[in-house]
Amino acid sequence: MNPIEQEINKLRDELNRHNHKYYVENSPEISDREFDEMMKRLEALEQMHPEYADPLSPTRRVGSDLSKGFEQVEHVYPMLSLGNTYSVGEVDDWVKRTENALMGRKAEIVGELKFDGTGISLIYEHGRLVRAVTRGDGEKGDVVTDNVMTIKSIPLVITGDDVPDFFEIRGEIVLPWKAFERLNAERAFNEEPLFANPRNAAAGTLKMLNPAVVAARGLDAYLYYMLGENLPYDNHYDNMMAARRWGFKVSDAMTVLHDIDEVDRFISHWDTARKELPVATDGLVFKINSLRQQLNLGFTAKSPRWAIAYKFAAERALTRLRYVSFDVGRLGYITPVANLEPVLLSGTIVKRASLHNEDIMRALDIHDDDMLYVEKGGEIIPKITGVELSERRADARPVEFVSHCPVCGTALVRVEGEAAWMCPNRWGCAPQIIGRIEHFVGRRMMNIDGIGDETAAALYAAGYVRNAGDLYDLDRDKLLTLEGFGPRSAERVMEGLAASREVPFERVLFALSIPYVGETTAKRIARSVGSIDRLAAMSAAELTAIEDVGPRIAESIIEYFSIETNRRTIERLRAAGLQLETAVAANAALSDTLAGKSFVISGVFARHSRDEYKSLIEAHGGKNVGSISKKTDYVLAGENMGPAKLEKAKSLGIPIIGEDEFLAMIDK
Ligand code: IVH
Repeated sequence: MNPIEQEINKLRDELNRHNHKYYVENSPEISDREFDEMMKRLEALEQMHPEYADPLSPTRRVGSDLSKGFEQVEHVYPMLSLGNTYSVGEVDDWVKRTENALMGRKAEIVGELKFDGTGISLIYEHGRLVRAVTRGDGEKGDVVTDNVMTIKSIPLVITGDDVPDFFEIRGEIVLPWKAFERLNAERAFNEEPLFANPRNAAAGTLKMLNPAVVAARGLDAYLYYMLGENLPYDNHYDNMMAARRWGFKVSDAMTVLHDIDEVDRFISHWDTARKELPVATDGLVFKINSLRQQLNLGFTAKSPRWAIAYKFAAERALTRLRYVSFDVGRLGYITPVANLEPVLLSGTIVKRASLHNEDIMRALDIHDDDMLYVEKGGEIIPKITGVELSERRADARPVEFVSHCPVCGTALVRVEGEAAWMCPNRWGCAPQIIGRIEHFVGRRMMNIDGIGDETAAALYAAGYVRNAGDLYDLDRDKLLTLEGFGPRSAERVMEGLAASREVPFERVLFALSIPYVGETTAKRIARSVGSIDRLAAMSAAELTAIEDVGPRIAESIIEYFSIETNRRTIERLRAAGLQLETAVAANAALSDTLAGKSFVISGVFARHSRDEYKSLIEAHGGKNVGSISKKTDYVLAGENMGPAKLEKAKSLGIPIIGEDEFLAMIDK
C-alpha cells in the first residue's frame, strides 16, 4: 500500500473511532477542532486522490444535497410488530404463557426500552453498510441509505473477528428531545405546523429528500435486534453486546431478567426512570433471550410469540375549561386555545393547551365549563384528549369556533385545503402587523438589536411603525418617547437599524413575511432569482420553475407584489439602503441562454462555489437536477468528480464540461 493510501485509511479509522466515542459513548477523546482538522486533511487527500474514493468514508456523512425519490425493496425478513400489554399483570401472564409453551422450562427474558421513533433495518455485507430500509408495510420498505448515513452513531464500516459476512440489524431512529424542541421552536417561528411528537418528527425527517437537511436535524439510532444465518451467539443479549462492541448504539437499559419478580422490578424502575432519558420511549419490550427458544415459540401472523411490548400509561390530568381563546398569528392563522384551571402534569403546571384547529376542536365536542383530560404522553406540548361527560352541566352549550377575528372583527376565511381559518385583514389586524414587525427585526432576519417583542408592540401602539419601511424613519426623539427607553437603548436601536443595511438579500426576503416564504424558500429564491425587482416581475410559471417553489408559494409571491402598500414598503427599504439583490446573480444578467437545458454539477470548482454555479445555471434559464439520467443535457464537472458519476455520464453519452467551458457558454 502506498503511503497516501495508508494515511487515508488511517484517517478514516481514526475518524470512525472518534465518531463512535462522541456519538455513541458520549465521551470524546479529542477536541472538535482536532476532529475537524483530521476531517479536513482526509477531505483534501480524497480530493487529490479520487482513486481511493470510498462511498462509506466518514467525509461522506455530511449528506450530499442530491435529492431523489426512494426505491422500494422487499425485506429479507418481514418486519413484524409487537403484541401490546398495558399492565404488569398482562406481562406476567405472557411470561407464564411462554414458559408453558416451552414445556415448563425456565426462560431468560431480556428487558429493554421501547424507543418511540421509527423502525429501521440496516443490512451489512462484509462489514459494510449496504442498505438502510424503513419498515414500510412490513413486507417492503423504502431505501433510505443516504439519509441514514448522516446519522453519526451508525457505523458505516465495522471490523471484528466475530462479525458475520451478512447480517441485518434493526433498531429505532429517534429524534432526541433536545433536537425535537429545537426543530419545533424553529417551525413555530416560521409558523410551520409543529410535529406532535419526536416519533413523527423522526419519521418525517427520515423520508426527506435532501440528506443535507436530514444531517442538520440531529437524528440518532438505538439498535435492538440482530438477524442472520451466522450470528455470533445463540442468544439475543450476547448478540446485542457484540453489536455494541462493533460500534452500534445499544441501550444500557438492556438487562437479562430471570423471573417474574425481576420483570416486575424492571417495569417499576423504568416507569419513572424513563422520564430522565434524552429520548422518547413509549414502553418496554420483553424478549425471550435464547434464540432456540425463540424458534420454538415462533410467530403469529402479526408478531413474534417470543416478545411482548408493555406500554407506559400516558400521564393524564383532569381539569376544568375556563374558556377557549383564539390566537391570531403573524400570518393571520387562528388557533383555538383551551385556557384551563392550572393543573400539575409531569412536573409542570399546565394552564393552556392548543386545540390546533376547528376540526380537532369539533371532534372533541367541547362544551362550556367542561372537565377536560390533558395528556403529555410522547407529546411535549400538552394536548386535550377528551371530555369527562359525566361532569358536563346539563345546560352546557358547545363552544363555537369564532366567525370573526377576535382582534379586528374581520370575517374569517377558510384556508383552501387546510383545516385552518385565517383573518384576511393582513394589513390592518394588529397582531398580524406587530407579528410582522417582530419577525422583521428577529435574529435570523434583519437582526436589529434593541427591538424585542414588547418594543415592537409599543412602536405599533405609539403609531410609529406599521410596516418595515416605517422602522427606517425612526429617530432618537421618537424612540425616547417610548416607555422605558433611555438614550442608551435608543442608540442601540439606531445602530441595529444601520447595521441591518448589510444583511444579505436572502434574509431581507425572509424578513418580509410573504406567506409561505420561510427561511429555506427565501434562500432558494434569492439565490436563483437574484433581486427583488426580478422577483416582483416574475410570472407563476417562472416562479414554479424554481426548485421547491410550488403553485401556492408562487401565488403568494404574486399577491404580495400586487399590493400597493408592499411595493411602497420595498421602495422605502431600497431608499434606506437595504440589500435587495444578491452578490453573484447581480453581475450575471438574467438570460435564457440555457433555457430547457438541465445540468448536474459534480466535483469541486476553482472559480465559483457549487452554489454559485447553481445560481448561474438558474439565472440563465437552465435547471439543476440531482442525478444523471438520459434527460440530463450537461454534466458540469469540477476537480475530483465522483467516479460513479463519471462512468454513468460517459455511458449515457452526456457531454461533460468544465467550468471555463460553462462560463463561456453563458457569456453572451
Ligand atoms: S423488537 C419482531 N425492540 O416497536 C420484533 N422493537 O410495536 C421486532 N421498537 O416495529 C421489534 N423499541 O419499531 C423491538 N427494544 C425494542 C423496540 C422496538 C421500539 C419498535 C419497533 C417495532 C415496534 C413494535
